[in-house]
Amino acid sequence: MFSPLPLLEARPQRTPIAVSGDRAPRVNIWQVGCQMNSADSDSLAEQFSELGMVPGVELENADLAVLVTCAVRQHAEDRASSRLGELAKWKAARPGRGIALTGCMVGEHGGSLLRRFRHLDYVFDMREPDGFFARLRDLYQGALEGPVPLPASDRLFAYLPVILGCNEMCTYCIVPFVRGRESSRPAAQIELEARRLVDRGVVEITLLGQNVNSYVSPEDGSGLPELMAKVDKVPGLKRLRFLTSHPRNASERLLDAIADLPAACEQFHLPVQSGSNSCLGRMKREYSVGEYLAVLGRARTRVEGISLSTDVIVGFCGETDAEFADTLSMLAEVRFDTVHVQAYSPRPGTAAFRRPDDVPLTVKKERLQAVLGLQRRISEERNRALIGRAVEILVEGIGEDGRAYGRTRQNRVAWLEIKAAPGETVTAQVTAATAWQLVAA
Ligand code: SAM
Ligand code: SF4
Ligand code: F3S
Repeated sequence: MFSPLPLLEARPQRTPIAVSGDRAPRVNIWQVGCQMNSADSDSLAEQFSELGMVPGVELENADLAVLVTCAVRQHAEDRASSRLGELAKWKAARPGRGIALTGCMVGEHGGSLLRRFRHLDYVFDMREPDGFFARLRDLYQGALEGPVPLPASDRLFAYLPVILGCNEMCTYCIVPFVRGRESSRPAAQIELEARRLVDRGVVEITLLGQNVNSYVSPEDGSGLPELMAKVDKVPGLKRLRFLTSHPRNASERLLDAIADLPAACEQFHLPVQSGSNSCLGRMKREYSVGEYLAVLGRARTRVEGISLSTDVIVGFCGETDAEFADTLSMLAEVRFDTVHVQAYSPRPGTAAFRRPDDVPLTVKKERLQAVLGLQRRISEERNRALIGRAVEILVEGIGEDGRAYGRTRQNRVAWLEIKAAPGETVTAQVTAATAWQLVAA
């Protein structure tokens, strides 16, 4: 299913949903999944407050619970199902409470969710939430007294969606089915939103898309590098990142943008998924290991000190020991800074779902551990090689022990042994390092 669903609701309505008391209705938003869902949750919070509802409250104080779900792996769906299970008691505890579900499980399951979860009231598509908000307006009429201002945000970071959906058809992946076809947002609109974010105190923006480097401006056909150049100019923006790129579209111009734009961070996340050409073929990734390695080679030459990260799936249909060994040797050769590894999870409706899921769970787990073990060593070595070097850290917060922490331009977590306040950018020398973080003074 590629197009958005209209609002689906339990009929007849199982419990009267109405506000208890004389106050604006309150909403609890729960979320799993990728950065796109984080951005969607933020946008929902804004829409709730425009309607006159109070978003971001604790569950105990909420009238409406909203679940923003993910369908990329079975585990993500299980988390939403178990949250829904827990909500049955919450709903029964006070008459008038309601539950709504949105996110990527909607595209996959649609109305069947209402039959499966008897206490669920609404299912709505994030791509078309108007019907849901119109329904809330009817339900809560008397209690809605115009927009409720969102509390002033002290957020330093924001995700900014620039392209929605995905036109790739990786055989294991459900995302194109649940998020629809690619659609790039107008560059002028993105630039305006970036300015607004920075006006509100944001200093780091990550441009988002399932396939962010296939962005094409509807205004003039220009691509992600040109969009980055526009956002980079927003006064006050300190850092600019983008997620997630497909290796097939990793152009020279994109590397130039990372190298040349002052705010663009020296970081590139480029999912490889497998180090075996035969496996990549079955995944329909449309590149070879050689082509992928060539892109990374160019990235390292063009952008000094660039940090590289990737995604890997282990135990994909038919993955042999030899194919997996190719993945390990590719990881050993590239020496990424970070690797996100997942065991293959069959997704109904995808092309791979028709193939046998024939790698036993025990083998998937062994392969997962092998990748994690190898990468831990590599990350530690790479981080330790930074000891004695100066890094630029944007301070995000203060830990329980009073130390400031933040991230480097290369997206490494760093703890500071010197005083610094959130939002400040400091340059400090790395004094110690583990696989996961740096200490700098
Ligand atoms: N568009 C990005 C890309 O091309 O890789 C990321 C999309 S997906 C939301 C994020 C990651 O989830 C993928 O890189 C992949 O490693 C993983 N993933 C997707 N489908 C999966 C599946 N069926 N089983 C396990 N991991 C999966
Ligand atoms: Fe899924 Fe492939 Fe699209 Fe990434 S590029 S979202 S893995 S179909
Ligand atoms: Fe993201 Fe999960 Fe949907 S990874 S796009 S929230 S399926």
